[in-house]
Amino acid sequence: MALNFSPMAFKSQKLPSHTLPPTATLRSPKFCMVSTIPSGSKDVGNLKKPFAPPREVPAQITHSMPSHKVEIFKSLEGWAENNLLTHLKPVEKCWQPADFLPDPNSDGFYDQVNELRERAKEIPDDYFVVLVGDMITEEAISTYQTMLNTLDGTRDETGASLTPWAIWTRAWTAEENRHGDLLNKYLYLSGRVDMRQIEKTIQYLIGSGMDPHTENSPYRGFIYTSFQERATFISHGNTGRLAKEYGDVNLAQICGSIASDEKRHETAYTKIVEKLFEIDPNETVCALADMMKKKITMPAEFIYDGRDYNLFDHYSAVAQRIGVYTAKDYVDIVEYFVNRWKVEELTGLSAEGRKAQDYMCGLPSRIRKLEERAQERAKEAPSMAFSWIFDREVKL
Ligand SMILES: [Fe+2]
Ligand SMILES: [Fe+2]
Repeated sequence: MALNFSPMAFKSQKLPSHTLPPTATLRSPKFCMVSTIPSGSKDVGNLKKPFAPPREVPAQITHSMPSHKVEIFKSLEGWAENNLLTHLKPVEKCWQPADFLPDPNSDGFYDQVNELRERAKEIPDDYFVVLVGDMITEEAISTYQTMLNTLDGTRDETGASLTPWAIWTRAWTAEENRHGDLLNKYLYLSGRVDMRQIEKTIQYLIGSGMDPHTENSPYRGFIYTSFQERATFISHGNTGRLAKEYGDVNLAQICGSIASDEKRHETAYTKIVEKLFEIDPNETVCALADMMKKKITMPAEFIYDGRDYNLFDHYSAVAQRIGVYTAKDYVDIVEYFVNRWKVEELTGLSAEGRKAQDYMCGLPSRIRKLEERAQERAKEAPSMAFSWIFDREVKL
């Protein structure tokens, strides 16, 4: 989801799932393959190495947070215990994928599967492309737990640490794990998608990792997760709304239940950042502005199915066109957080902090203008074959 808000850069961006506005690429019939081909290789499948990431990330920055700031997160452990862990749901009260799927132990199993498949026949291919992309993003949950465990001061140091930060990370991961699990099983049963291609894509994505620009800093890490959870809340909410329009109430419930988890997680991460704004506004506003300048990249940025090096752009384009996640959603998220974290009201900032504050306060309207211009330039969308749906073509 690297996003550069200059009009030129905007056009050539790789658009990360969920956080990046897909607009620019979207209606352009030209697809530049060069930018996403891994350096030093033309065809991943022919590499002699057993595995090489389809995309390499140059110039990675690590440990940018001043080391003394780690103490802030130690001092916030009591706060996290009382204000963060309360947003987790007890396992016994959580929904599980089995609640929404045909019961293999029941006599009616085959009938239930057939009903699911009949309902799925009423849903168009473009919807399935987006649902598959969303599912694959969720299935790379191991990458996101790894990302949280790169953060200085909040990482799980042992794998079973009892700090509230570590407890949150493991329990959040466990809750999130249900999302990919449920969507995967639903899609398998639907009979509408090429599971082998999808499974390969998941393997590529987990092997590729992600590039969230968080630099081991929990300031950046929790800004990132706030954005990501809100974006996924919006997109799962929209796949739910569309499923209902297609007459599939069961699928609508699946997407809606996932969206509701995302909302709870968004609330938790947003509260952490709110707390950071309260106790260290300067560092937090600088981190926010820098994250936005470098672009909020999204987890599925490196998505690759073994064939399409621009798969993320193509999947994002379809998501934009059918209204699951749009450029407008992205701007709305930026604006929402600028207001939610009261960025305009921050006081006592350094010169650098004030500069970051000004940048953030003007950002929503700047992106909105860019988005409107991109929409005006939008051309007739081409179609694209997606391996996830047996190479059937879908309009971008
Ligand atoms: Fe999720
Ligand atoms: Fe999430």
